[in-house]
Amino acid sequence: MAEHYHLPDVKLADLAAWEVQKQLLGQQEPEHAAFQNEIALVESPPFYDLKQPRMTRHDFLEELHRLFQPRTYLEIGVDKGESLALSQTRTIAVDPFPGIDFPISCDLELVERTSGDFFAANDPIKFFEGAKIDLAFIDGMHLSDYAIRDFVNVERYCAPGSIVVFDDVLPRNDLEADRIRRTQGWAGDIFRVIGVLEEYRPDLVLIPLDTSPTGSLVVTNLDPQNGVLTENLEGIQNDLQSTGPTQVPEGIRTRSIASDPLAFLSSTDWGAWIAERDYRSPYPAGSGLHRIDSGLTTNTAMGPSAISDRQVSRLSKRVYDTEQVLLMRDRDVAELQGSLALREHDVSDLRAALELREHDLNELNILLVNSQECVEDLLARSAESRQGSERTERNLRSLLEAASSRLSDANSRIAAMEQSRSWRMSAPLRVGGELARRLR
Ligand SMILES: C[S@@+](CC[C@H](N)C(=O)[O-])C[C@H]1O[C@@H](n2cnc3c(N)ncnc32)[C@H](O)[C@@H]1O
Repeated sequence: MAEHYHLPDVKLADLAAWEVQKQLLGQQEPEHAAFQNEIALVESPPFYDLKQPRMTRHDFLEELHRLFQPRTYLEIGVDKGESLALSQTRTIAVDPFPGIDFPISCDLELVERTSGDFFAANDPIKFFEGAKIDLAFIDGMHLSDYAIRDFVNVERYCAPGSIVVFDDVLPRNDLEADRIRRTQGWAGDIFRVIGVLEEYRPDLVLIPLDTSPTGSLVVTNLDPQNGVLTENLEGIQNDLQSTGPTQVPEGIRTRSIASDPLAFLSSTDWGAWIAERDYRSPYPAGSGLHRIDSGLTTNTAMGPSAISDRQVSRLSKRVYDTEQVLLMRDRDVAELQGSLALREHDVSDLRAALELREHDLNELNILLVNSQECVEDLLARSAESRQGSERTERNLRSLLEAASSRLSDANSRIAAMEQSRSWRMSAPLRVGGELARRLR
């Protein structure tokens, strides 16, 4: 297949997966670019005649988070954080060289190591405080031997109803699926994980989903006690590493084995699954999941249906939009309730302040009445004393007048006596002196 497309003339040995080189040699960004140019990764060749999938893997993951409401989430392979940004729950994210530039809104423990080193540590999921992994996304090294080891390690910390999602299980051509990276978009040979799980773990439920760009695989009915993969891991990894040139099987390349992610999401009874996810049987009756003859799993609700795909898509979009509107309404109502509670609090504060004012006002009124009474009393008393002093003045005047008339009487009598006397006094007798001055 490769010869149909222009590949630069470089030796295969130089084409060692640049992803490995980039991460394990820890090269800096400019050197990455130089290295990438040097091996001149080509654009993935035209794809097999594929219908455009109805969902991207990130849209699928976003919906899965929303519907499945995981209490814990483990992500292997973070890169810029696009899938990590979809988590709203307690999360452990593992990548030796994360370069997060998406806004993260989960409760996060970021482990900057390879997944192998992460799982080799004592109690790697300590951050989950004893809880199992509800949802895991395996999207680290794009080689099947790494991915199968990641799965073995992840399953040990899962419950039967947990969900594990692999990325990149549906490469679109041989070149994109090669174990040596040659294309810009690289799926690697992760698709081989499906065959390994079918062979060694027929008890698992496998649901390949037609997501863009390179497909997803949902795995559930997990069994943390099952040791079959662990016992055979070394042999499995050796086989995967030594497989010949990559040839993507027809069913994977044409995606005939894959189910529609939208149908998977909408035909599953998530409420019942959530309710039972800690128990042995994670599939409530009618959830629509069962195995079919090919050995792969599909969903009964995903077969041909009376409703066209376009209608399903439009209806799902409308349901989703309505749910978003309802969510916004709920948020608005909660906000209004919050501000109403604040108003009520303000009103009761104002009422208390008003009562205090009324109390103050009453006291002021009482003071006013009291002081008015005082003023009236003082006025009455001053009127009384004015009347008293007027009376005294009148008395004094009449006394004065009486004294003055007696004086003038006495003087007239003295004058009469003087005229009729036969003798004269040596000096005229007059009543006067101090008394006369005061009487004047
Ligand atoms: C395809 S990207 C992940 C993309 C991300 N999950 C998303 O959807 O946005 C793959 C990442 O896996 C990381 N990786 C490679 N080998 C790894 C390993 N052994 N353990 C953990 N992560 C690894 C790489 O550093 C790279 O950032």
